[in-house]
Amino acid sequence: MANISFFSGETIPLELHKVRVVQKLSLVPVERRLEAITEAGNNTFLLKNKDIFLDMLTDSGVNAMSDNQMAAMMICDDSYAGSATFTRLESKINEIFGTPIFLPAHQGRAAEHILAQAFVKSGNVIPMNFHFTTPKAHITLCGGRVEELVIDEGLNTTSNFPFKGNIDIDKLRALIEKEGAKNIPFIRIEAGTNLIGGQPFSLENLRETAKIAREHGIMTVLDASLLQDNLYFIKQREEACRDWSIRKITRAISDEMDIIYFSARKLGFARGGGICLRDKAIADKLIEFVPLFEGFLTYGGMSTREMEAITVGLDETMDEDVISQGPQFIQFMCDECVKKGIPVVTPAGGLGCHLNAMEFLPHVDQHQYPAGALAAAVFLAGGIRGMERGTISEQREPDGTEPLASMELLRLALPRRVFTMSQVKYAVDRIEWLFHNRELVGGLKFVEEPTTLRFFFGRLAPVGDWQEKLVTQFRKDFGDSL
Ligand code: F0G
Repeated sequence: MANISFFSGETIPLELHKVRVVQKLSLVPVERRLEAITEAGNNTFLLKNKDIFLDMLTDSGVNAMSDNQMAAMMICDDSYAGSATFTRLESKINEIFGTPIFLPAHQGRAAEHILAQAFVKSGNVIPMNFHFTTPKAHITLCGGRVEELVIDEGLNTTSNFPFKGNIDIDKLRALIEKEGAKNIPFIRIEAGTNLIGGQPFSLENLRETAKIAREHGIMTVLDASLLQDNLYFIKQREEACRDWSIRKITRAISDEMDIIYFSARKLGFARGGGICLRDKAIADKLIEFVPLFEGFLTYGGMSTREMEAITVGLDETMDEDVISQGPQFIQFMCDECVKKGIPVVTPAGGLGCHLNAMEFLPHVDQHQYPAGALAAAVFLAGGIRGMERGTISEQREPDGTEPLASMELLRLALPRRVFTMSQVKYAVDRIEWLFHNRELVGGLKFVEEPTTLRFFFGRLAPVGDWQEKLVTQFRKDFGDSL
């Protein structure tokens, strides 16, 4: 991927790959989109793919694979134990991270499950830059508590700060002082901090965090699921690393960490996951959980085909041309939105373009879920599926009160190497149309609300008839167009 200046004066990201396998998409009329979102209970997780044009729900397990990954999948060794495929993956991980021990797991949350089971005891506190849903759920299940220590800038939706995923070092010191190192089994640091808009940490901040952890004898755990974007941002934005290779930056990060785990649905353009480490004594505490919950030690619930794809995908992740594709497309999409006055999280992060629903729909009360309403409206406007990252994604307190999220975001993920520039331009166009008609958009209310993971299964209904009105306006503005 390269940012190429055109003769016309424009600068746009240019793909350094060509497409050799395609999947047909359909764009159904706006009336069908209204039926579809109603059938899905206004929850984009419950939409059917046949009704979706651009699936921007997630970048998880849906990134495009390369020809070399597909070729590697054909030569996998299916042995239950001692498979050569596993040895290849283990060696690649050791080459990249310098971690000779690899414990495989079927996906990222399975690694989180194992880490929580092994290390988190009731009453423990786990500091993080910011929580992600799945590690928080596993830690809470084991009786632990999450403390978010992201710098204040991290929660500021519009900012120029380059490393909004950094840990606030003073807050970290104060927390250790207050809780005592013995009550902190590990510090979890998330690369490409998902829930605040795919924002990176700096190498400098990671090093400071690790130094404090070492001083107090606390383990450090890196969630490397979104590492590829973070690596790119360090190279682009951190002065000291400007001339470093991606491999060198990766190694500088991993050398600081006791444990690295990842979802290979994100890192490595495939599906799977695992835990990487150096210390045998730590590994001994984890190892028994792998055959118990995942599968034997040389596959851990992954298919051998996927393991071959991860091995090649990890190698491709060390190529700056490859990993720049996501952030550059996202930057383009965010810049286009900013030009049109559409509120997005800045600076552009990894993972996707994040619309700020609180500013997009200031008239929708937070108890009527602005980010959820915006997700339904964006689907109506263009058949584009995003993911609500706001109050619906929170869980009620045991007494039934509903915590309001600190941000109401609609995440429009850009899976790597999947969408074309014209599709991104189409998405921006439909969002711009919606922005001009934002007064028409109203709130949502739950009609079926599960007690756990309500954002996955819950069903909602519009407050009033705003969706019909939006469809009528669409027809007025676009005529017969889809
Ligand atoms: N950590 C981070 C930072 C993630 O973004 C995810 C998944 C996981 C861990 C869990 O990995 O899905 O393989 O079990 N994020 C997906 C998303 C679901 O859409 O952002 P998993």
